[in-house]
Order: sequence, then structure tokens, then C-alpha cells
Amino acid sequence: MGVEIRQVGECFAGEVTGIDLTEPLSTENVNAIHEGMDKYAVLTFREQPLTAEEQLAFSKQLGDIEHAIGTSLREDKDARLPSTFADVSNLDKEDRPFDINDRRRLFAIGNRLWHSDSSFKVVPAKYSILHAISIPSKGGNTEFAHMPSAYDALDDEIKEELDGLICEHSQIFSRQQVGFTDFTDEEIDRFKPVRQTLIRKHPATGRKSLYLSSHAGRIDGLSVPDAKLLLLDLVNHATQQKFVYVHEWQKGDLVMWDNRQTMHRVRPFPVDEPRDMRRTTIVGDGPTVV
Ligand code: OGA
Ligand code: MN
Repeated sequence: MGVEIRQVGECFAGEVTGIDLTEPLSTENVNAIHEGMDKYAVLTFREQPLTAEEQLAFSKQLGDIEHAIGTSLREDKDARLPSTFADVSNLDKEDRPFDINDRRRLFAIGNRLWHSDSSFKVVPAKYSILHAISIPSKGGNTEFAHMPSAYDALDDEIKEELDGLICEHSQIFSRQQVGFTDFTDEEIDRFKPVRQTLIRKHPATGRKSLYLSSHAGRIDGLSVPDAKLLLLDLVNHATQQKFVYVHEWQKGDLVMWDNRQTMHRVRPFPVDEPRDMRRTTIVGDGPTVV
């Protein structure tokens, strides 16, 4: 039986069946996954109980791994996973949920804002591959918004206005939105803004999309309030229900998304319950600004 993909969202997102991710992928299946990602932007795989090593081995067959170094407030000595993983769990080194006011948690819940992974890096992420080890009793869905559809739905006049605009992205800007501002000098230096185009074209599909992310906080040539209000309008437009797919997690799910054509966010869940999620990330093809 070969790989099959069934569309599960209104305008994007597909569920993949007929594949065991613990096995080395055939060239045919590698191609089917890339083609599926280009077409659906989000792919879900149910019942894939992978070890960390198996997730990494699967991911490496799809491209180069982006390392998570210096991107969170977790210190190296507290790491639960090697830098080939982004630890997006709510757990400390002893697998206990962070206290409600733990600085690491307050920073991490910035993921509840719509974003595209690593848009704060000069070369932002291509694919994110998130695996559910344990999930809370309620909440914690991940929502995805389809940016090519959002772009297509804009008026021509607005498309023209946005053409050529460059945004600055930093994790400081996303955290500012939720009132988390107590960064150390070292962190301010580490989270220096990078520039990204506001409109991007997908290299495989040729479709244009809005490259939005909560990390975007400034736009070249605009005042900060003008930039923030424009970004707010665009995010509100792009995240209308008709452009959104909601993933309700089951333990053992693996979900992959293309950060070049989607934004995502996680929804709230009980703070005292473990939510153990491991992310591997495939590096992007290059900077968006030349
Ligand atoms: C991520 C992320 C959402 C979630 O892994 O990049 O934003 O549901 N996670 O944990
Ligand atoms: Mn993310």
C-alpha cells in the first residue's frame, strides 16, 4: 500500500496514511512528502510512536536540521533534549510542568500568538515537525492559517501597497505583545531583529503569500504604530476561520508544517498538566531579503 493523503482542512492540510515513519523512507515516499507539503502546507500523521532518535532520523531525510541554540530562555544545563530538537514542552529537566510564573514558561507561551517558526532568524525555518509524546486532558490544540489563501483574498490595491515592504522580526517584539519585557542585556543582544519580506513567493508552487509572524514588530519606512496596526490588520485578515485548520492532538501524532506558507499558534491548556512535544526543524533555503 502506498502513501495516501486526504485533505482535512477547508483550503489546505492533509492527513497522510500508509507510511511507517520508523522505517527509512523510499525515494518515492520522500518525494510524496515534499509534494504533499507543497500542496497541503500541513501534513498530519496519526499513530506514529517515535523515539527522539527515530524522529530525528525521519527528519534528516527531508533536509538539513535547524539547531535550537539560544532561541529560548532554557539554559543549556537544563536541556532535556539535544540542540537538534526544539523542546516545546512545558516541562523542566525533571519532567515537571513549569510553575505558572516561571520565566521560561512566560516566554514559551508566546507560542500562543500566531507565528511562523524562526522568522526571527536570518534564514527562517522551512518545515517544522512536531511530535506529541504526552498531551493534556483538554486544550492545547494547534491552529494553522494558510497564508497563500490569505494573500489571494486581499484587494489589489492593498497587494500593491504591501509589495516590497520589509519587516523586522525579533522574539522581543512577540513577547512585548503579551507584556513580557524583562529581558537581560545579554538576551536583548541575542534577540537582535532580522529583516524579512512581507510578501514571499513559494519556490515550488510559485504562489505569493503573506509572511506574517508575531515576531514582526517594525516595517522599514513606517512609524512603529503604523507598522503595528498594519500587521494587526493583516493578522486578523489572515486568521479568519476560513483560512484556519485546527489540529486536535492525540498522543503519537506527528504534524509537519511549511513555515513559508503557514502561521500557527497553540491554544491554552491546564498549567499543571504535562504537554510533552518535541520539534525537529528543517532549515530554510536562504534569507527572504537579498
Ligand atoms: C512550535 C509551536 C505549537 C504547539 O513547535 O513551533 O509553536 O502546539 N508549537 O506546541
Ligand atoms: Mn512555533
